[in-house]
Amino acid sequence: MGKNWEEIAEKIIKKETAVVERNKGKIPYTAKNHVFDDRSDKKDICWWTNGFYGGTLWQLYNATKNDLFKDCAVELENKMDACFMDYNGMDHDAGFRWLPTSVANYRLFQEKESKNRALLAAANLAGRFNLNGNFIRAWNDWGDDRDTTGWAIIDCMMNLPLLYWASKELGDPRFKAIAVAHADTAMKNFIREDGSVRHIVGFDPATGEYDRDYGGQGYGEGSSWTRGQTWALYGFTLSYIHTGEKRYLETAIKVADRFAERIPENGLIPVDFDQPAEPAYIDSTAAAIASCGFIELAKVLGENKASGGSAASDGEALSKKYLAAAEKMLSALDELDCDYNPDHDELLTRCTAAYHDKDHEFPIIYGDYYYIEAIWKLTGRELFIW
Ligand code: GLY
Repeated sequence: MGKNWEEIAEKIIKKETAVVERNKGKIPYTAKNHVFDDRSDKKDICWWTNGFYGGTLWQLYNATKNDLFKDCAVELENKMDACFMDYNGMDHDAGFRWLPTSVANYRLFQEKESKNRALLAAANLAGRFNLNGNFIRAWNDWGDDRDTTGWAIIDCMMNLPLLYWASKELGDPRFKAIAVAHADTAMKNFIREDGSVRHIVGFDPATGEYDRDYGGQGYGEGSSWTRGQTWALYGFTLSYIHTGEKRYLETAIKVADRFAERIPENGLIPVDFDQPAEPAYIDSTAAAIASCGFIELAKVLGENKASGGSAASDGEALSKKYLAAAEKMLSALDELDCDYNPDHDELLTRCTAAYHDKDHEFPIIYGDYYYIEAIWKLTGRELFIW
């Protein structure tokens, strides 16, 4: 029998209603002993994940209209204003931070201040574009011996929707042009022949020439860090949605097909598809993000069938296949990795930031966010964020 996604959505609402009550004012990244930490102080306020709890609150608000979710989301968004005063705190993750917060608020309530914040963030993101190599610079230097001036990372595909949004909002093509140029560079330099995806590519920042790629947060050079695969899967799907360019749809399909054939029997996703069999580290954020990407791709392909013809029936078959892939991973998360206890702050329990980190398999806020987004997509509760 199929899963009862409605029942799961109701369990999430019950839990998150208790979670928001006892975490007012916090911006969590992880949970220790089932209690959220807080990244809202000065040294952590620019952390790249700080928008995800805001996004969680807006998704919950959209589903329940409970004002507490809204009030806490607005408070979090206001706190993040401190980032605009810290040049180094601003990086390419402007999309991850201001789409689930300010753009979400603006979409729901047309708040002028929220629009202003999101446009400032978009302008800063656009300012990271390297015209020599047609890519958006990922990070700022970390104060060690690594020069990251010419580095781009696949994760940035998820930040591009902030630029698509800004162009549409302002009626100004510049932001979208930068997003398209970056997406084309990513398509050419990050996607391997077999549909797997690199994490970091370094370019010569002065000539724009490809230099080399790096294993980044995955197992190593040439490997397939699963969250990176998901940023590409969902990111190219979104670039197709925002531009209608078929090449992005084809790229999303190529990545999705490779990912789908590597989903393990039990539906739980490893940190890297090419990691050794032991230790069998899991990253549930990858399962949750991939599920969102698969569902959105299935939707797009399902809608295309309206045009008829054999390509359309291919689209229909792919659409079913991708929805099944998402449902398999979400069922696995629900049964094997979800903590619905309202007394515990975290939802997903086995997330991993990077393969070579000291710690593995702990709660991470964007795992919770994307799990909720995926369940909301299946049950018609979603506020479209990206
Ligand atoms: N964007 C960084 C990560 O996925 O860990």
